[in-house]
Amino acid sequence: MKPFMSGALALAFALGAAGAAFAEPPGDPKAVKTVDGKSFDAKGDPTYNIKPDGTVDFYTFSGYRRYMGNCSQCHGPDGMGSSYAPALADSLKTIGYAEFAGIVIGGRQNVGGGNEKVMPALGDDKNVTCYLDDIYIYLRARSNDAVPRGRPDKHDPKPPAFEKAETECMGVN
Ligand code: HEC
Repeated sequence: MKPFMSGALALAFALGAAGAAFAEPPGDPKAVKTVDGKSFDAKGDPTYNIKPDGTVDFYTFSGYRRYMGNCSQCHGPDGMGSSYAPALADSLKTIGYAEFAGIVIGGRQNVGGGNEKVMPALGDDKNVTCYLDDIYIYLRARSNDAVPRGRPDKHDPKPPAFEKAETECMGVN
């Protein structure tokens, strides 16, 4: 872990501290609570909520779009991986929410042995940090085969709370 601590990185630590061990694996993805269109599992981690007819909650849909815009160039479409970066649809079977947030915000490097693989620290990129939960929720759904590959066909409308949080986070009006 790098010695600096930006606001976003401090947030990752706060999330980690709140949830106990940093490397805690994801729990049961079942949504037990939904607040303003955003669902949470029994541990309080963000999760997806998909109706029997395939309609996804707005966070899953948003996460799909943000993943495709900010992660897929390295991690491949739909979390399927590439020759350069791992398949996050597999990674999230074992990587829990706090660890995910820590890696995305702080980055990670795996160099040596002819390897030069770098996960950039994206903690200063609002297009990522403002949608960190959304991206996690989407990838969590992919890791459990709860959504197929590709753009989700049907999604819930954007909740007013989503709009408000987005505006505040992105600093636009
Ligand atoms: C410039 C390329 C690049 C981009 C963009 C990128 N990553 Fe990565 N990411 C990597 C590489 C390479 C690794 C593997 C690093 C290693 O081996 O330690 C990685 C590793 C990860 C891991 C750990 C996976 C595991 O199995 O251990 C997570 C989680 C992750 N990235 C999430 C994301 C998310 C979410 C985004 C978009 C917001 C993203 N990454 C954008 C290149 C990238």
